[in-house]
Amino acid sequence: MAKIYIKTFGCQMNERDSERVLALASSCGYTEAASLDEADLIVINTCTVRRKPEQKVYSLLGRLGGLKERRPHLRIAVVGCLAQQEGDGLLERFPQVDLVLGPDRIGELPRALEALEGGERLCLVGFHQDPCQGVLLPLRPSVRAYVNIMQGCDNFCTYCIVPYVRGPEKSRPSGEIIEEVRLLAERGVKEVTLLGQNVNSYGKKSPGELTFPQLLSKIDQIEGIERIRFTTSHPKDLSEELIRAFVDLEKLCEHLHLPFQAGSNRVLERMGRAYTREEYLRKVERLRQLVPRVAITADVMVGFSGEGEEDFRQTLELVREVEFDALFSFKYTPRKGTVASRWPDDVSSEEKQRRLEELQELQRAITLRKNRSLEGQVMEVLVEGTGGRPGQLRGRTRCNRVVNFPGGEELVGRLLWVRITEGLQNSLRGELCPLEVQEAVNA
Ligand code: SAH
Ligand code: SF4
Ligand code: F3S
Repeated sequence: MAKIYIKTFGCQMNERDSERVLALASSCGYTEAASLDEADLIVINTCTVRRKPEQKVYSLLGRLGGLKERRPHLRIAVVGCLAQQEGDGLLERFPQVDLVLGPDRIGELPRALEALEGGERLCLVGFHQDPCQGVLLPLRPSVRAYVNIMQGCDNFCTYCIVPYVRGPEKSRPSGEIIEEVRLLAERGVKEVTLLGQNVNSYGKKSPGELTFPQLLSKIDQIEGIERIRFTTSHPKDLSEELIRAFVDLEKLCEHLHLPFQAGSNRVLERMGRAYTREEYLRKVERLRQLVPRVAITADVMVGFSGEGEEDFRQTLELVREVEFDALFSFKYTPRKGTVASRWPDDVSSEEKQRRLEELQELQRAITLRKNRSLEGQVMEVLVEGTGGRPGQLRGRTRCNRVVNFPGGEELVGRLLWVRITEGLQNSLRGELCPLEVQEAVNA
């Protein structure tokens, strides 16, 4: 039987797309290969949001060229955002590539595989109008699952390639989403993360469709699902109704990922983000007022075109003020075809590196302080799997922190009460609360 190996770069949406690729390939008779060397078909699911993930794809493609010379029957497919961006060009530049498949064309994989088996090389890119994706479960669902609720983005932030490579925003019909979550729950999934580039605008372009808070409330009612998360939210669209959902919906976890990108209004405006620093801070304040225990995480960039030292200081200041639970920070890299790529990339790479390090150092201290402040607390943990060491379990709090604690394998998939014994830089350590506590809380 033919074997497929998939290597995924990029965001959670790509991880979900890779699951769809595997499910579709399996319906065509492929089984998963344990390594590159065993594979008959190698799929690279690509990302082009920054220079680094793109370079990784090109270097992997180079190595696969050598592998294919030794194994001429090997087929190589490039899917995802770089596939959409480069299209046919990838087939021209890389003779080792047989298939180029854009992210909105993944549903066509079975037909593409048939063509590959017939010796064709093909490129399927571009976007469908149809917002349906079909219900396609992961081959081996675990405790947590990703559920795509929308594709594309209409925001066109000036630095960002996503609207070009993922296409116009379209919301998947709520009926299809709810059906998928129901089936996942039947297979034992306890936690779902709803995915979209800007989930807050879910349904806005589809007359009669649910709003995002309404969709959350429907999913909250699905039996078997214990936790709901979502990502990503755009600050400009974070509504009072959505903030209230954290209060009203029992299963919605107290964690919001709310990228701010920059702390200076001048930079935010050049980025086309459509909110000011003050508006961002007001939303954070309102959220904390209604949901005091909420964890807030964000994305931020340093060294955007025109970002001066004073602008950067304002980013540091915002980070100090908000005290994020975790922060994902990146050096700006111009992306071909975006508005900002026509502006000077005028912060030197040494300076970007310096700013990044200063920012990360600041955040590391905040993260550690916050993690330590949880010592002694009893927290609800969903056990996701066994930990690195024997006899250890790994789970996650509602606020999305990883907790390692001693316990037996039979507890995987359970919601348990764990006392936090140590707050570390990237995770927590804990111990299971006694049986009486577990029972008392679950009664
Ligand atoms: N839809 C999400 C972000 C998607 S891209 C949002 O609106 O926030 C993920 C992150 O990559 C972004 O939040 C941003 O911080 C970063 N990013 C996007 N384009 C970038 C670029 N050209 N250079 C560096 N970082 C970038
Ligand atoms: Fe990119 Fe902006 Fe869309 Fe996020 S909202 S995907 S940063 S264009
Ligand atoms: Fe990358 Fe595409 Fe996601 S560019 S970040 S894989 S949407």
